[in-house]
Amino acid sequence: VNYVKNAWYIAAWGDAIAPGKMLARTLLDVPVLLWRAMDGTLAALHDRCPHRFAPLSLGKLTEGGVQCGYHGLSFDGLGHCVGNPHGPLAAALRVRSFTVHEKHHAIWIWMGEARADLSTLPDLAFIDVAPATAFSKGYLHSRGNYQFYTDNIMDLSHADYLHPNSIGGGAMTRTKARVEEDEQGVSITWLATNESLGPMMDAVLNLNGAPADIWTEVHWRLPGVMRLVHGGVAAGRPRYEGVNNINLHAVTPETPTTTHYFFAATRTINLHDAAFNEQFANTRQRIFATEDKPMIEAQHDRMGGREFWDLQPILFGIDHGVVRVRRKLEKQIVHETNQGATECPSPAIATNK
Ligand code: FES
Ligand SMILES: [Fe+2]
Repeated sequence: VNYVKNAWYIAAWGDAIAPGKMLARTLLDVPVLLWRAMDGTLAALHDRCPHRFAPLSLGKLTEGGVQCGYHGLSFDGLGHCVGNPHGPLAAALRVRSFTVHEKHHAIWIWMGEARADLSTLPDLAFIDVAPATAFSKGYLHSRGNYQFYTDNIMDLSHADYLHPNSIGGGAMTRTKARVEEDEQGVSITWLATNESLGPMMDAVLNLNGAPADIWTEVHWRLPGVMRLVHGGVAAGRPRYEGVNNINLHAVTPETPTTTHYFFAATRTINLHDAAFNEQFANTRQRIFATEDKPMIEAQHDRMGGREFWDLQPILFGIDHGVVRVRRKLEKQIVHETNQGATECPSPAIATNK
């Protein structure tokens, strides 16, 4: 299985790794050990000792890095051996390291061979400007290929059927989406006028079923970072009188059949209402965990390990975004393969003594 590798993925939320703590997590089929030193610095290494391949995550953090729990070799955050009780510090005693960068509350990782390019880190400034009482985030480990989780956001017509009691109001199905593509991604916009809002927003705006103007935009960036803007206002009124939510949905493949799902939400109303924030966060978490996730996992199971295109899906207009994103990912994977991007390299041979 191939992934886009020369790109930024979220490895974890920043607060998932406290100073002095490790986190072992498989990303793009590669076992990775992440840790945060006491001074806050982050490091990421291939979670496999070059000696006899024990997971470094079974070892312990020391002042200078991590010590393998099997025979005591130590490695710093760049993967250089800094301690060998059994021989010299040979240059071959190396572990592959990955570039990590913390921004927008997330720890981003670059898994490819090409030099990590900070200029391609997705801009999620909306997260940084949101007050704590208008921000929430979460993580779910999910079954199913990561592309199903992207498909789910690129086709929001599902909200009308899967979430009729919260988000869905029928407008997505009746509105034709505009799909645009650029170098880095795919954007979809649904603009609905005089339409019915989903029950949740309807309640927040006190519309009692009165018609609304609704806007929904998804901006997908390679390889799997989506910014979703969704808002509504009483029909004919200016947008600023309404409600506007900006959310993040980001997927990182764990394996071909499992996905790390990261999400975050911000909003423009009740900005300083902590209780509302908690209720809003819980509702979103519940919707995803009890409606989206089970459906996608069931879809995955029903496909029985077959590839999406091999099963010859019957597609509609609602799938334009889904198809564009899948094509773009495939194209990028081919591009990287042609450039000679390789799998995680084999460990160096230890020259001992
Ligand atoms: S396997 Fe790590 S020191 Fe032996
Ligand atoms: Fe959904």
